[in-house]
Formats: sequence, C-alpha cells, structure tokens
Amino acid sequence: MIKQEENLFCLHTTNTTYLFQVLASGHLEHLYYGSALGEVSMEDADALLEKRAFEAGNTICYDSAHKTITLEDLRLEVSGRGKGDLREPFVELTFADGSQTTDFLFMEARIEKLPDFDAVGDGQELVLPHAYDETGEAKRLTIVLKEAVQPVRLELYYDIFVDCDVICRSAKLFNEGDAPIVIERLLSTQLDFSDSRYVMGGFFGAWAREMNRVGLPIRAGKQVISSVTGSSSNRANPFVMLFEEDATEKNGLCYGFHLLYSGNHYEAAEVNAYGKTRFCAGINPDSFSWLLQPGDAFETPQSAMTVSDQGFAGMSHQLHAFIREHIVRGTWKKKPRPVLLNSWEAAYFDIDEKKLLKLAQKASEVGIELFVMDDGWFGNRNNDQSSLGDWFVNKKKLPDGLDGICKKVNALGLDFGIWVEPEMVNTDSDLYRVHPDWAMEIPGRTHSEGRNQRILDLANPEVVSHMIERMTEVFSSANIAYVKWDMNRIFSDVYSLYLAGCKEGQNRQGETAHRYICGLYRMADTLTKRFPNILFEGCAAGGNRFDAGMLCYFPQIWASDNTDPISRARIQEGYSYGYPLSVISAHVSGSPNHQTLRTTPLDTRFAIAMFGSMGYECNLVDMKQRDLEIVKEQVEQYKKWREVIQFGDFYRVNHQGKTEDHNRSPLRSWICVSKDKKRAVGMLLQEMVTANTQYANFRAEGLDPEKTYHFYNRKIDQSILQFGDLINTVAPFHVRQDSLTHHVIARFQQMPGEQEYHRVSGAVLMKAGISLIQGFSGTGYDENVRYFQDYSARIYYMEAR
Ligand code: GLA
Repeated sequence: MIKQEENLFCLHTTNTTYLFQVLASGHLEHLYYGSALGEVSMEDADALLEKRAFEAGNTICYDSAHKTITLEDLRLEVSGRGKGDLREPFVELTFADGSQTTDFLFMEARIEKLPDFDAVGDGQELVLPHAYDETGEAKRLTIVLKEAVQPVRLELYYDIFVDCDVICRSAKLFNEGDAPIVIERLLSTQLDFSDSRYVMGGFFGAWAREMNRVGLPIRAGKQVISSVTGSSSNRANPFVMLFEEDATEKNGLCYGFHLLYSGNHYEAAEVNAYGKTRFCAGINPDSFSWLLQPGDAFETPQSAMTVSDQGFAGMSHQLHAFIREHIVRGTWKKKPRPVLLNSWEAAYFDIDEKKLLKLAQKASEVGIELFVMDDGWFGNRNNDQSSLGDWFVNKKKLPDGLDGICKKVNALGLDFGIWVEPEMVNTDSDLYRVHPDWAMEIPGRTHSEGRNQRILDLANPEVVSHMIERMTEVFSSANIAYVKWDMNRIFSDVYSLYLAGCKEGQNRQGETAHRYICGLYRMADTLTKRFPNILFEGCAAGGNRFDAGMLCYFPQIWASDNTDPISRARIQEGYSYGYPLSVISAHVSGSPNHQTLRTTPLDTRFAIAMFGSMGYECNLVDMKQRDLEIVKEQVEQYKKWREVIQFGDFYRVNHQGKTEDHNRSPLRSWICVSKDKKRAVGMLLQEMVTANTQYANFRAEGLDPEKTYHFYNRKIDQSILQFGDLINTVAPFHVRQDSLTHHVIARFQQMPGEQEYHRVSGAVLMKAGISLIQGFSGTGYDENVRYFQDYSARIYYMEAR
C-alpha cells in the first residue's frame, strides 16, 4: 500500500496510484495520481520524472548546485513563496526578521499505523476531526521536511484507505526556534498536474438553494471556491471536483476532494505559464493568521482525495464508501435511520405539550418511529428574538418538563428528540445578561446580527466547557434519542474578547475563526462520546454547514430548509456527488410548500424524501384521512426499503432531454441498489410536461445483468379532482368543476393508477430499460395510462427472486 524504494514513494489503493520522488535538491516532485499502475519500478518512475537539461527562459534558477531546477515549472508536493514558484503556495510564513521566503526540503520519511486520534490529551489541544479505520489496516506516510534556513519543521501526512481509494493529506508545522512565527497560510493538500485539461466542479448556493453544481473550466489563471462565513457554508461547499472536460457519469477521469473542515475553507485551481495545473485546498488564508510560539505546532484539517477513471459515478461511489466507513462513526454508523416527525413546519414556535402530543399521536398511528420537538421549547422562546443561551424548559409550554413530555411520547411507542442551537446567544437572554463577554463582538463597534442572534466565542475554552455542561444537563434530563444541532447565522464582526485578553491578543485575532471551529469540535466530540446512543443531526439554517468534518460527529445533516421536492431533487442530487444518502436528511412537508409556495403531489414529496434519511415535517393532525392512509403506506414502504437506500449504491441514472427540447419531457432518475444486487429502488421525476411526449423509459444501473428481476411500481391512484372539468367527458351528467358534487364524486371514485409489472433480466433493465406505460397526453384515461403531470414522480422496485 505504501512503498518506499530509494527516493521514490508509491501509494497504492485498490484502484489508484499516487507517486512522488525526492529530488537531489531535497524537493518533492509529484509524478502521478490516477488509475492504478500496479507495481512501479525505479525505471517506471524515471520515465515519469521531468527531464531537465537547461535553465528555461526568465525563470528563477533554484541554486548553483541545481541550476536546472526552476520551481516555477516543477510539479511539487509542497510549495512555499520566494524561491521561484509563482503559483498558489501550500505554506506562507512570516518569520521574526520579517522575511517571508520559505523552502522546505526532505529530511526523512516514516511509514506507520494511523495515530490513535481518540487518545485523550490534556484537554488544551485543538480538536480536529480525522478519518479513522476500524480494521487497523490503514497506514500513514509521514514526510518530514526542514526549512532550508529557519528552525521550522513541516510534516506532511498521507493516510491511505485502500478499500475505498482515498488518500487523506494534512500537514503539521513545528516552531523549533526561539522566536514566534506567523502562519499566514498552511493548507492541507496540493496536487500538481503536468497538463491543463480540467474543469473544477463546485457546489454553490445560498439558503434554501444549496448545492448547485457548476463547472469552471481552468485553462489559464485561477479559479477559487471558498467561504468566509465562519461555516463551511451553503455559498460554496468544501467538497469539490476536478474532472476532464468530457467526463460523464460513467467515463473520464474525475477527482473528488473533501476538506474535513466546517469553517472558512479554500480550494483553488490554477494553470500557470507552463500549462501546469495546481489544485490546493485547506483553511481559507483570507481570514486566517496564527501566531506560532516557540515549541508549538499547528496541524491542518485533512483533505480526503480520490480519483476514478469511471466518471462521476466512480468517484461518488468511492467517496460514499469512504464517508460511510471512515467518517461516520459510533452506534449509528450502520444502523438504519428512524423515520421521524419534526414539529417545525407543523407549528413553528407555537408549541405546547398538548399540541405536540396530538402530533405525536398521529405520528405513531402512521408508523413513524421518532418524534422531534424543534425550536421553541426553552426560555422565553416564542419567536427568534430571544432566549438562545437559556437552555431551561419553558414550563408554560411543557409543564412536566422535558422528562414529562418525553415519557408521554415514549408511551405512544415513539422515541423522543429535541432541537438545540448551543453555539448562539440572544442579547435578550439570561446568559447574555450574565456573560456579555462570551458573545463575539468588537468593543466600541455595533455588532451586526443575523437572525437577531450573536455567536458565542467558542475560541474561549471556558465558554465551550460551559456549553458542554449545559447540554449534558439537557440531554440527560430525559430519555432523549435524537438531537438536532442547529446553527443559524454566519459570522460578522469576528473578534474574540478571550483572545484579546491573552498574551499578544491584539496579534492573534486571525486565530478566532479557526479556534471557534476547534471549540465546536470539542463540544461535538465530548457530547457525542458522552451520549453514544443519541442520533445527532447537524443543521445550519439547512445546509450551511454540510461537510465531512461535521459528519465525523453527526451521522446525518439536514440538507436544506427547502422541503419543496422539485428544489430538493436538485439539492439532494448535488449532495450525492460527494455524500452518501444515509447522511442526507430529507422530509415530506405540506403543500403548497412553505418555501416556494409550489403545489406538488404527496407521492412526489415522498419519492424525493425517500432518497435520503426520511422524515415528515407537516401537520399530520390537520391532514385528510386519505392522505394519512397514504402516509402510513409510505412509511411502511420506506421501512421496507431503507437499508437499500441508506446503505446501497446510489446512481444518478440520466436526465432525458433538456427543458428547451420541444419533443421530449425532461426527466430525472435515480436508483439505489443493495450491495448484493438483489434489491433496487428507482425514482423517475417529471419537472415539466411537454405535451404529446407519452413514451418514457426507465433504465437501471448497478444491477446484476445475469439476474432476473421483478420490476414493479408503487401504484398511485389519482384523485379525479386533478382532471378538472375533463370529468364531463366521462360523467353521465354535467359536473361543475370544484362544486360540491365534484368533491363528493372524488371522495368515492379514484382514478386507478397504472401498474407496471415485468419479469426481466438485469441486462435488459440496464442496457435497454423498461418502456413504461403510455403517459397521459390529451386524450384517453384508464389504468393503462400513466398520469404523469408536472411534478409527478414514480418509485420503481426491482427484486431478484
Ligand atoms: C433553522 C432550521 C430549521 C428550524 C429552525 C428553528 O432554520 O434549519 O429546520 O429548526 O431553525 O428555528
């Protein structure tokens, strides 16, 4: 898996190879990262090494002993500033003498087991998440580099996860001198390519419209994807891709990079004057600086990278396996996630025990397993203006406390969960009145708020310890099975009064944002270890902190506050490039939707939420009996199929047609296949009907071509109300649309939905696809017609017998 031969380092995973070599000058020349090469000999490496015979153009020659080395045009594992490399550096330092040139040269290498990341330290160290390995097989390569002149050591780490083709890179800088150093930037990974044929794929958005995939071709200059919100952010996710221009789902070279970090991040791709591409990623240097005292060290978060020559699907599958096996941990790692009902969109802040128990009662009647009480249960919280920080039960709303309502919910056969937002404080709270210095604010400057709240200074260890204890009291005050950990604003006026009070505090404010994230990790780490059975769900106004760092603590994250299925289909598909469905939490909500006012069928809301860790977030108490029966059947279906969805292989199958096509309806389809390929669930979504395009095809992926599958759909009967006054084409008497008569007929007469059934081979399903029952197209309607209007969806099941 890791081989060192002379100065050559070969990192092998099942399907990939990563190579670099130490040059005579001490620099590390990157040779290759791509599909597996098998055994690599010194001769092979020699063929990959760039041949240098003379100094090129007006470049900088490294030194007189290595006159042909020009760092500007070399593929490097790590680079600094000032010795000729003009590209994005990996490391930037300011030394005590004011100089900023760095030159890190090879000293030694070590190959070891992964360190014990869970080893308990003295509690003072900064907590960072790490990818872990339960089998004990993963190895770490450490490359030790020494600055050419200054007493500084830099260690580069390469953790190899052979089974899922991932290498995690990170670095640690040691100040071995007796003067402080300022770290202006220290990234996590750097990857140099000899050519420039790549597109950088980023996932951009905002609140309620997260994860829109955008391809940024990089032929010259630089593309940057980053966040300065204090969180990993919905503006630009820290999962990014680099792929060949013509890469598709199944073909082409595709690299994926996850930064295991939940704060300000930075990913850059740059093509230099010699047509070489550099990719680098790490903590955003734009909002960061760190005063490194003599004897101290600074470690960067991990960047997990993978590559596949089988297109986006290949890359996604490797990363899904990695997140499931080496990121998500604890009791819930492999445990099917419960179907929940969340109170938020049903009641918002207007909750009390009576109302909540009515909701819980309905939830239990339809087979839901977990009832979640969202915001509004503590302090004086009747709106978003007050009480964050006061984590004490509001006795007016919950007279018997958390324990009281929890017992009553448990008695209905449901688990009980709560919402918290422990990183925040309202100025209208007892916590703020006692500890105004615990909130982030700059003395003498009016603080700009977000959602009427301020951020607690988690750079202050005392604040972190206090919140850990408060949360411990809350979580142990009842039989709490689930916690939704929210974080609802982005940073402004960043300043730590705590750091200001420390030695050289005025020079250390650039540390605040990173120290905050490490404080958050300490909270999350301690609490998830103290409460190993609680299912934690991350949330930050939806997907404002959806990253592999948070997933090291919380096994699932609320993907977006937007619960509209049409928006959600795009959002969830965006996440699916880097994240497995088990970590994407998705709810069926009311219609018209609360974020878009779009009206969509209940079955479509289910079909999209089903492709994730599913729950409900709507007022089941007010729901019509018929809809409740549908919900009951949905819950049953989801329970039957959730292992395939949460832990199987997910494929984005195809998008047939574009919106502007005049002769096709654009369709989106997905499929999840169980690991043994015996069961699969497919989904087909219609966003916008194009008239008279009644033939559609459902094609599968990932099945066994040799197996025979029973293919059938989830049958959806249609309300005749949806046909408006078309009822008069079949009714024996005239029915006025929307009249009482129309509604009475609708109560007793459903239009039967189409039923697909085929016994068919995996090969046919994957290569040809099923020609589905003809879709409605202006005339004719019976059970042999697929009624597939705007926003319709179908679920298809495939079972090998
Ligand atoms: C955020 C979350 C919502 C809900 C509210 C409660 O917006 O994303 O799901 O929990 O906070 O205030």
